Amino acid sequence: MWAINLRIAAVVLGTLAIYTLIANKIPQVQSEVPRALALGADVTPEQLVSAGDELYNGSGGCTACHGLGTRAPNITSDEKGQGAIGARCGSREPGKDCKAYLHEALTRPGAFVVPGYEPIMPDVSRTLSPQQIWALVAYLESLGGTVTVTAADIPAAGGLTPGASPGNTQSGGGSTAFAGGSTDPMAMLRDGGCVGCHKIGEEGGAVGPDLSRVGARLNAAGIREAILAPDAKISPGFENFAGIMPKNYGEQMTAGQLEALVRFLGGRK
Ligand code: HEC
Ligand code: HEC
Repeated sequence: MWAINLRIAAVVLGTLAIYTLIANKIPQVQSEVPRALALGADVTPEQLVSAGDELYNGSGGCTACHGLGTRAPNITSDEKGQGAIGARCGSREPGKDCKAYLHEALTRPGAFVVPGYEPIMPDVSRTLSPQQIWALVAYLESLGGTVTVTAADIPAAGGLTPGASPGNTQSGGGSTAFAGGSTDPMAMLRDGGCVGCHKIGEEGGAVGPDLSRVGARLNAAGIREAILAPDAKISPGFENFAGIMPKNYGEQMTAGQLEALVRFLGGRK
């Protein structure tokens, strides 16, 4: 009897050790992720623009598609004689001003698809916070236009951690839990934005590899690496899409969420 108990204890301890290892490992892969934004009540347009600039040209992953010429419209430079994005955003959709159009382009990309392009623009609200999205809108407006985003646009909730000084741009981080904190794999794949790019079963997009049978290609370690460090190994056939997959999932997910996802995907054979 005690031998069985001992074995159970060993398994429990082993599992705990693995989780601890993973939990310790996660922060190390986040290095280039933007300093989390906690843009408060007195944030200036300049602060928003510079935060948006950092996201656009960094971990936001935008430049994987934009600025290469053919896959997506130019953003920072002229697009077909209409100017940079800040100059043309106000005339894209009748009745929609620049700010409203840009916010829609980022969070409901299917609502208006720029003619001549495939609808592959991801819904960034699945990977970025509302503050980060408004920072991007401000940055995009600044490219040839006038910045009209103000602190009033930033949702009050989640902006500042209680007690932090207003305008503190250092604190916090994932104020919104990844997939609402769920450990249900399908909920994470949907709410985490994975299906925006990956097909799984009948649903999902075709920007990244179909994950329906990913367990037949990759073992658990391979899947974990693909999620935490997407650029470490590029999936064969997807070289042109290298750099698109967000690199900050390791920072957003808890160790438990990550392992639930890895186990689920590893079982898809
Ligand atoms: C997977 C490729 C891809 C990624 C990544 C991507 N986009 Fe796009 N984006 C597109 C494509 C294609 C379009 C044009 C089709 C459409 O309107 O949906 C587009 C459209 C847009 C537009 C509207 C452009 C116009 O001329 O009206 C904006 C603004 C935009 N993207 C901003 C961004 C930002 C900011 C990011 C990063 C957070 C980003 N995109 C990431 C592919 C991408
Ligand atoms: C914006 C698009 C995008 C999003 C969002 C995205 N991925 Fe990816 N993913 C890709 C692309 C493109 C590749 C292939 C290129 C590469 O390896 O980086 C990829 C590769 C992978 C691979 C390796 C697959 C293989 O067969 O080699 C796994 C696993 C994966 N993603 C899981 C996820 C999970 C889980 C999520 C959500 C938590 C997610 N991805 C979100 C675009 C995306």
